[in-house]
Order: sequence, then structure tokens, then C-alpha cells
Amino acid sequence: MRDTILVTGGAGFIGSNFILSWIRERRSPVINLDLLTYAGNPANLASLEDNRRYRLAVGDIGDAQFVANLLREHQPRAIVHFAAESHVDRSIASPEPFIRTNVLGTQILLEETRRYWAELWDEDRQAFRFLHVSTDEVYGSLGPGDRPFTEGAAYAPTNPYAASKAAADHLVRAYHCTWGLPVLITNSSNNFGPYQFPEKLIPLMTLNALEGQPLPVYGDGLQSRDWLFVEDHCAAIRTVLENGRIGETYHIGGNSERRNLDVVTAICDLVDEMRPDPAIGPRRKLVTFVEDRPGHDRRYALDAAKMARELGWRPSEDFDSGLRKAVRWYLDHPAWAESVRTGAYLDWIRQNYVERGAS
Ligand code: NAD
Ligand code: DAU
Repeated sequence: MRDTILVTGGAGFIGSNFILSWIRERRSPVINLDLLTYAGNPANLASLEDNRRYRLAVGDIGDAQFVANLLREHQPRAIVHFAAESHVDRSIASPEPFIRTNVLGTQILLEETRRYWAELWDEDRQAFRFLHVSTDEVYGSLGPGDRPFTEGAAYAPTNPYAASKAAADHLVRAYHCTWGLPVLITNSSNNFGPYQFPEKLIPLMTLNALEGQPLPVYGDGLQSRDWLFVEDHCAAIRTVLENGRIGETYHIGGNSERRNLDVVTAICDLVDEMRPDPAIGPRRKLVTFVEDRPGHDRRYALDAAKMARELGWRPSEDFDSGLRKAVRWYLDHPAWAESVRTGAYLDWIRQNYVERGAS
């Protein structure tokens, strides 16, 4: 077995941040298995184009033969599984791709991993890890006074994306319990930072604010999310991969709960400060309330105490410092933003916001 790790979905938002930081921090080779859906962008990893430690393998986690060949060829010592359909609103518009990739794709990846792992030499089999990246959404919504979810809380997903991730988590645990596959599961809260596809809240609002476009807030905007800077998430995943206990689940949270409306107004103020534009005026006036997301979960929050207690990990950014970095990144990378706001992105924006009554 080599020192290589296999990352699935590494051309997406968190996966590309993870690969960039892995090559920087760990320097061991990475194979990126990615289907390059609308959300996968190889340009995120352009800085690794000539790096001998990095290779992109374009393919589907649901293609058993492709996965088997890749494992045989590269003999990874670990798999970090990010690949998924990840956007809640798209899962409401069209659930089927979420079941195909997140549930069936994960099962096929697990099955091929199990076969590969079973044939490793003893020492390599013991060292091998399969780390599954999941979400706080599997637990459903918290009430206003509820304590954040701890590991072991009951699963209660409420939208097709969350249900598909819950199913994937159960399958990963099943492969551990049934066959002893050495798995680790992480559930994290809402990530933000560089390279996030601008159909998600923070990049969408930043780019719209910059251009003086309406800022479409769903419902009353008082839903609350816990925000985690993406580089903190990547550091936490490295920590779990290296020191986590097999079969365990770890919550990775940012200790930064914010209401959506407060996130949007904070973005407005930062864009006003960094790019004042008298023709646009104060960006807060661009806030436009639109039809709510069906079944919109009111509040997510994770208790990340186990990560601190057992593995010594804590987030290094708070929400304000992370948001300043994220907004600055989008303002400083207009070419990246332009390159991804085409085709599938424009179709989605038309479909989602026209249906919600936004102009
Ligand atoms: P993303 O949508 O930005 O990226 C997903 C990547 O997976 C893309 O590169 C896409 O091309 C690839 N992919 C999709 N289907 C594939 C398939 N069948 N085979 C191979 N590759 C495929 O997602 P993200 O926001 O980076 O999220 C990554 C993971 O983290 C997901 O599993 C998601 O559920 C989880 N997660 C995300 C967040 C968040 O806030 N973004 C929070 C918690 C957990
Ligand atoms: O909680 C973790 C999850 O966070 C991840 O598992 C998902 O993969 C990730 O996409 C994210 O899901 P959300 O639905 O929370 O993210 P999104 O950016 O789509 O929305 C964040 C909040 O902002 C949510 O309450 C909906 C609201 N929203 C979103 C958009 C795109 C708006 O009010 N207006 C918008 O235009």
C-alpha cells in the first residue's frame, strides 16, 4: 500500500479546499475521483496542475468497475468521501440524483472499498480508513431553546438531500458493523469560504450585493445555521483521519450560530466597506423577502465538544473573521466567479428565483 489517499468529490467546494490544504500540510499524493457535475470545478485545483502528487480521475462513485480499477491502480491507504449532490433546494426540485449519488453511489463505493480492503496485507488492512463526510442536516431541526445536537442524537432528516445523507451515514455504519470496515463519520455544520458554488447563501449574497442585485432571503430570514470556516473543517477532517477512533462519529461545528438575515446584512456591510458604490448605495436595501423553502429547517447547531475533548480540535476562525476572509476572496476573484456563473448556474438561478417570486 502506498501513502496515497483517495478523495471523492475533490473538485467541489469543500473537497478542493481539502486537497489544497492536504498537499500543503501533509504532502502525500492525492487521487481526486470526481464526476465533474455542475458543482465540480477543476479550476479550483489549477494550482496543482503540474504537481506530481495530485491526479484527477474523472468518474462516478456509482461506477463499480471504475472505482475498483482506481483502487487497484493507486492502492490508497485512506478514502475521504465528499462526493455528493449537496444543494437542498435542488433536492426539492429534483430528488432522484440525490438518491443515485448520495445513497446508491455511496453504497457502491463502500462495496468496492470493502473488496479492496479485504485483500490488503494485515498491516495495511489495519491502517486503512474510510472517512465519510456528512452533515448536521441528518438530525432535522432544533427548537429555539434546544441544546445543539450531540453525537448519537436521533436521525430526523426533513428534506430529500438530508434524507439521502442520513441513508449514506447508515450504510457507512452498516459496513463497519457487518464487515468491520474501518470507517469514521464526520457531521459538520454549514461551511463557508473560498470556492463555494454561488448558488449557496454566502457567495450568492456577496456577488449579488457587489453588483447591486436583489438579495433573496427565504421566508422571514430568521432561520438559524451554525457557520464553520471551510479551512477549519479541512483541519478537523485531517485530525479525525489521523487520530479518530474507528466506527466513531465526530461533530465538527463552528460555535457560530447566526440567523440568515443577520448573515445577509453582515455581508452587505462588508461589501459596502470593501467596495463602496454610490450608484448602488447601502446594500442592506437590496434585501428582498421571497417565498420560503418548503419544509425549511428552522435551526441547526452541533455540539463539537467531543472533537475538542478527544482530538484537541477547535475552530480557529470565528464567524466575523471568517466572513471577512470569505467576502474578500469573492471580491478578489471576479474571474473565478464569472467562470462558474454560466450554463447550469444561470438555469438554476432562473428556475429557483423566478418560482419564488424574485425578479
Ligand atoms: P459540492 O456540491 O460543492 O461538491 C460536490 C462534488 O462532488 C463536486 O465536485 C461534484 O462534481 C462531485 N460529485 C457529485 N456526484 C458525483 C459522483 N456521482 N461521483 C463522483 N463525484 C461526484 O459539495 P460540498 O459543499 O463541497 O460538500 C461536500 C460534502 O460535504 C458533501 O458530502 C456534503 O454533503 C458534505 N457537507 C457539506 C456542507 C456544506 O456546508 N457545504 C456541510 C456539511 C457537510
Ligand atoms: O447544514 C449543512 C448544510 O449546509 C450542508 O449539508 C449542505 O450541503 C449545504 O448546502 C448547506 O445547506 P443549507 O441549505 O443550509 O445551505 P444554503 O446555502 O442553501 O442555505 C443556507 C440558508 O440560507 C438556508 O436557511 C436557506 C437560506 N437561503 C439560501 C439561499 C440560497 C436564503 O434565504 N436565500 C437563498 O437564496
